[in-house]
Amino acid sequence: MTTDAATTRAWIQPAYGGPEILEQRTIDRPRPGKGEVLVRVRATSLNSADAKLLRGEPGVLRLGFGLRRPRNPVRGMDVAGTIVAVGEGVDGSHVGDEVVGEISGGGGGLATYAVTRFGRVVPRPADVDPATAAAVPLAGGTAWHALRLAGVRAGSRVLVIGASGGVGSFAVQLAARSGAEVWALCGERNRALVERLGATRTFDYRATGPETLPEGTFDAVIDIGGTAPLGVLQRLVREGGSVVMVAGEGKGPFGPIGRMLRAVFRSIGSKRRLRPLAARASASVTSMLLEKVARGELEPVIERTFAFDEARDALAHVDAGHTVGKVVVRVED
Ligand SMILES: NC(=O)c1ccc[n+]([C@@H]2O[C@H](COP(=O)([O-])OP(=O)(O)OC[C@H]3O[C@@H](n4cnc5c(N)ncnc54)[C@H](OP(=O)(O)O)[C@@H]3O)[C@@H](O)[C@H]2O)c1
Repeated sequence: MTTDAATTRAWIQPAYGGPEILEQRTIDRPRPGKGEVLVRVRATSLNSADAKLLRGEPGVLRLGFGLRRPRNPVRGMDVAGTIVAVGEGVDGSHVGDEVVGEISGGGGGLATYAVTRFGRVVPRPADVDPATAAAVPLAGGTAWHALRLAGVRAGSRVLVIGASGGVGSFAVQLAARSGAEVWALCGERNRALVERLGATRTFDYRATGPETLPEGTFDAVIDIGGTAPLGVLQRLVREGGSVVMVAGEGKGPFGPIGRMLRAVFRSIGSKRRLRPLAARASASVTSMLLEKVARGELEPVIERTFAFDEARDALAHVDAGHTVGKVVVRVED
């Protein structure tokens, strides 16, 4: 794929809608501003957040991202690539650096060039390839933050609900590697994978919902499914335990906000706390996770890698909600 010096190929969403609205276009190449860098993108991984931004759902999200159409029309939050230009305040010696990060501004990875704040990217370890590295930042970072908020440590018994997706596949591994005993809910077809990642007991969530598991059993529950009743989740943890709510489904313009507020109120005065998580990009966590990948202690599970021209199919796959691990788009090798 070639572009002239002033342009970039990009997948654009001209409005909110399903994956069919995506169009591949040649657009002006973004310029790095103060504290920013221009990255030639090698790979980008997609997250369910990209599908939500594509559709503009829940509606409340449009208040921040654009009422009628997204102000930033390029999806893809996680990138691995090469710094090719720097903005004011960034040392020019970083041109040529191979970097990875969750980029600023809600997306931009589904393009041959993307701009991000320099502080958002970290060096890519030489022995972690771009596609593998791009799978790490958002999903891996969210899993890490969730386990930390839940206080998971060696000897903890933790239940991961939604263990087979991007966040879940990292959460199971990080918890098991920290010495926790991991129970997991996932689809039947993914039980063997989740056990290989470190879960000692797995259950098919369609046959064995969280309400069938013994009450007061867990030190922590990491809820990435987002559909179980709050009372059920709360009863699963022992006194002093925590439920970390990574996901929360909810209909209407406010989506999961009502559920999150109910969780906060239910936790007041309770010894079994429900803790909504809003994970923020953290370069230091991305760096730490990439080092684990480089040492063979963490495996980004990649269900499928798509070519750049297939990006619409890649987003459709994520939008369908049955991703196993991560979906990656190779942009330029
Ligand atoms: N709070 C935050 O800061 C934050 C950050 C990142 C993500 N999230 C949220 O976390 C959720 C997961 O994100 P993701 O990127 O990991 O999603 P994902 O990769 O698309 O997850 C899909 C996987 O989850 C499984 N699954 C779906 N519902 C389930 C349930 N009720 N019980 C068990 N497994 C279930 C699916 O299995 P089947 O195919 O068998 O259905 C599929 O393998 C999303 O709602 C996302 O918005 C929140």
